[in-house]
Amino acid sequence: MSTVSTVPTITLNDGHEIPQLGFGVFQVPPEETARAVAEALEVGYRHIDTAEMYRNEHGVGEAIRAAGLERDQVYVTSKLSNGFHRPDDARRAFDQTLKQLGFDAVDLFLIHWPLPTLYDGDFVSTWRVLEELKEQGRARSIGVSNFQVPHLERLLNETDVVPAVNQIELHPYLLNDAVRSFGEEHGIHTEAWSPIAQGAVLDDPVITGIAGRLDRTPAQVVLRWHIQRGNIVFPKSTTPSRVRENFELFDFELSDDDLAAITGLDKGEQGRTGANPDTFAWIPD
Ligand SMILES: NC(=O)c1ccc[n+]([C@@H]2O[C@H](COP(=O)([O-])OP(=O)(O)OC[C@H]3O[C@@H](n4cnc5c(N)ncnc54)[C@H](OP(=O)(O)O)[C@@H]3O)[C@@H](O)[C@H]2O)c1
Repeated sequence: MSTVSTVPTITLNDGHEIPQLGFGVFQVPPEETARAVAEALEVGYRHIDTAEMYRNEHGVGEAIRAAGLERDQVYVTSKLSNGFHRPDDARRAFDQTLKQLGFDAVDLFLIHWPLPTLYDGDFVSTWRVLEELKEQGRARSIGVSNFQVPHLERLLNETDVVPAVNQIELHPYLLNDAVRSFGEEHGIHTEAWSPIAQGAVLDDPVITGIAGRLDRTPAQVVLRWHIQRGNIVFPKSTTPSRVRENFELFDFELSDDDLAAITGLDKGEQGRTGANPDTFAWIPD
C-alpha cells in the first residue's frame, strides 16, 4: 500500500476548517472507544464524530489525551441527545458533553435529530441554545443532523445563525439530493453518515467492478466517491486493517465515468437504511 497524503480541509460558513475525512464512533461500545480512537489517531485521523447518545464521549477525550495531542490538533464533533431538546435541558446536556470529553470546547455541536413530532415540533428554541453556545465559544461551530428541507427553511427564516453543516444519511443507495442541494445553495455543508451504508453497498457489482479495475477495495472506492463529491465523511470501523484502509483515499482518483456510475446506483427512499427524520421520535432511556 502506498503512503497516505494529507486529509483536505473544508472551510465552513463561519470560517472554521474541518478535516474532510474523520472517524465515526456510533455503535462503538463505551469500554472499547478509547482503544478504537487511539488506533484511528495512530493511523492519522484528526477528526472524531461522537454523540451524547453513543455514550462514548468519555473514551474519545481519553484517547486524545493519551495520544499526547494538543486539543487543537483533533477536530471533535458531538451531538445533543434526543431527550434534551428543551432549552434548559440542552444547556445542561452540553455542560455534560464537555465534562465527559474533558474539554473546554467542542469544534462542532449538532442537534442530532429534528424530532418534528415531539416537543411541539419546536427545534427552533433548541437551536437558539446552540447559538448561545457558539456565542460563548464553547461550541466553535454549530450545525444540525437529519434535518429535512422544511426544517432547514424554518431555521433560516426564524433564527440568526445558519447551520455550518447538516449531517444526513448519504451513500450510493441514498443520494438524499434534495437536502444536499438545499444545503449547498445556503452554505450548509453536507456530512454523509453511514457513508458505506454500513457495508450494504460494498457487494454492488458496479462498485466491485471499479475496485477490481483500480486495485482498490470497494470501501475505498465509495469513500473516494464521497470525497470527490465534496462530502465530509467519517466511516466507522473497529477492525484495525479497515481503519487504515478507510484512510488511504488520497493517492488515487475516480474518473467522471466512474463517479457517474456510482451516482447512478441511487435507490431513493428505498435505499434508506436508517430512520426517516420526518417520523423518528425515539428518546433514549
Ligand atoms: N447523525 C446521525 O444520525 C448518524 C447516524 C448514523 C451514523 N452517524 C455517524 O456516521 C458514522 C459512520 O456511519 P455508520 O457507523 O453508521 O456506518 P458506516 O461507516 O457506513 O459503516 C460501518 C460498518 O461498516 C463496516 N466497515 C467499515 N469499514 C469497512 C471496510 N473498509 N470494509 C468492509 N466493511 C467495513 C464496519 O465494520 P467493523 O466495525 O466491524 O469493521 C461497520 O459494520 C457513525 O460512526 C457516526 O459517527 C451519524
